[in-house]
Amino acid sequence: MVQHLNDLKNICETKISPELLKEFGQDATEDLVFEPMAVLLPKNVVEVQAVMRYCNEQRIAVYTRGAGTGLCGAALPVNGGVVLSTKKLNQIISIDEKNFMATVEPGVINYHFREAVEALGLFYPPDPASYGSCSLGGNVAHSSGGPKCVKYGTTKDYVLNLEVVLPNGECIWTGANTVKNSTGFNLTQLMVGSEGLLGVVTKIVFKLIKKPKADILMLSGFKSATDACNTVNGIMMSGVVPSACELIQREGLKLSAEAQQSAFVFEEGIKFYLLVELDGDSLEDLMVDAEKIFPIFEENKSSEVLFADTADQKEKWWKLRRSIGELVKQKSIYKEEDTVVPRYAMPQVFEVVDAVSEEYGFEAVCYGHAGDGNIHINILKNDLSDEYWNDEIPKGIVKIFEKCKDLGGTISGEHGIGLVQKDYLPVVFNETHMNLMQGIKKSFDPNAILNPGKWL
Ligand code: LAC
Ligand code: ZN
Repeated sequence: MVQHLNDLKNICETKISPELLKEFGQDATEDLVFEPMAVLLPKNVVEVQAVMRYCNEQRIAVYTRGAGTGLCGAALPVNGGVVLSTKKLNQIISIDEKNFMATVEPGVINYHFREAVEALGLFYPPDPASYGSCSLGGNVAHSSGGPKCVKYGTTKDYVLNLEVVLPNGECIWTGANTVKNSTGFNLTQLMVGSEGLLGVVTKIVFKLIKKPKADILMLSGFKSATDACNTVNGIMMSGVVPSACELIQREGLKLSAEAQQSAFVFEEGIKFYLLVELDGDSLEDLMVDAEKIFPIFEENKSSEVLFADTADQKEKWWKLRRSIGELVKQKSIYKEEDTVVPRYAMPQVFEVVDAVSEEYGFEAVCYGHAGDGNIHINILKNDLSDEYWNDEIPKGIVKIFEKCKDLGGTISGEHGIGLVQKDYLPVVFNETHMNLMQGIKKSFDPNAILNPGKWL
């Protein structure tokens, strides 16, 4: 090990302080910590290539890590080895205004990138709740989503081309800097969502669009999940495409409102809230669209539809929504499930969550991207024993996932599989499917040095 550390120190910045090993041994997943042997901080592709070449020869496990905001434990160094941090690969290399494209390094923070392109009138829509701190490389590794994806699509819809360092140190570009490409297998999209199992992304070429000039934000309450889901479906069928359509269970909004000392009034009998955003180029057109969808709220017995009338109010409501995950975590250890089903099937997801939470005696807080049929189910540990939490609760989760599969859905819409969802993969993939993926893994990483201990 000492020899390995000395060799690695000659290749790139290598840290072994206990505080850093602890910091890089965890992400945002539950309360899990696995300390690596060292944290590597390469600052360019040549250093990444040298690291990979060395670790491949020496059979050292490599865990690539962005900003550590992941929710499935994909970056956790479960088998020791080294964490390859992309923190110092943090340059926005170019923004090509004429071709609506940008080339970035993977360590760039999502929000910094948004600000840079917005200054030029351009827009990069995928906006995970953690967009203030998550990295674009991590977003690519998980094909992350976010509220805006209902109108604009997820990370995968914006990745045109990737520079990837393979485990043997060789480097390829997966595609081309073009909006269309019918040239060979689509390795770009294979890398998107591959969770550090196939290679290390060292540059990303993103597609951009024009920044919409105006938006409006509405908030309303419902007596049941079904009323809220019917409203979502009504809006989607009306021809108005919202730029966000977020559903929040009362308990989630309450945690957020308390944390922010918000004056928000929680009406009696309201169990779910919808936060709906419309965007476009003119406020007048957006008001016409809003008028069009009002009756859908009324038909589903919503409370009064509130409008955020200032930028400050909008920001406050978005903060209420975006901080729920973190606040649930502060209340209790929790398991974050990321179910996704065809939109019309959402009420049945709430039914199965109610039935399973009653059967297994756990508290669940649900919220998420209702326009995408993507509901985050936070299962709280509260005072459940460790044994019950580890052995019994997963059986309940399997029941929820099996229902999602039956409804045509799957077990993760935007958080990924990583460590904590890997045992549930058989719910959705049979042996043939797993073998195909194993074969792909093997052809990229024959010595299995990338992210071992996860789902492949
Ligand atoms: C959210 C994260 C947890 O939507 O995906 O808040
Ligand atoms: Zn989400």
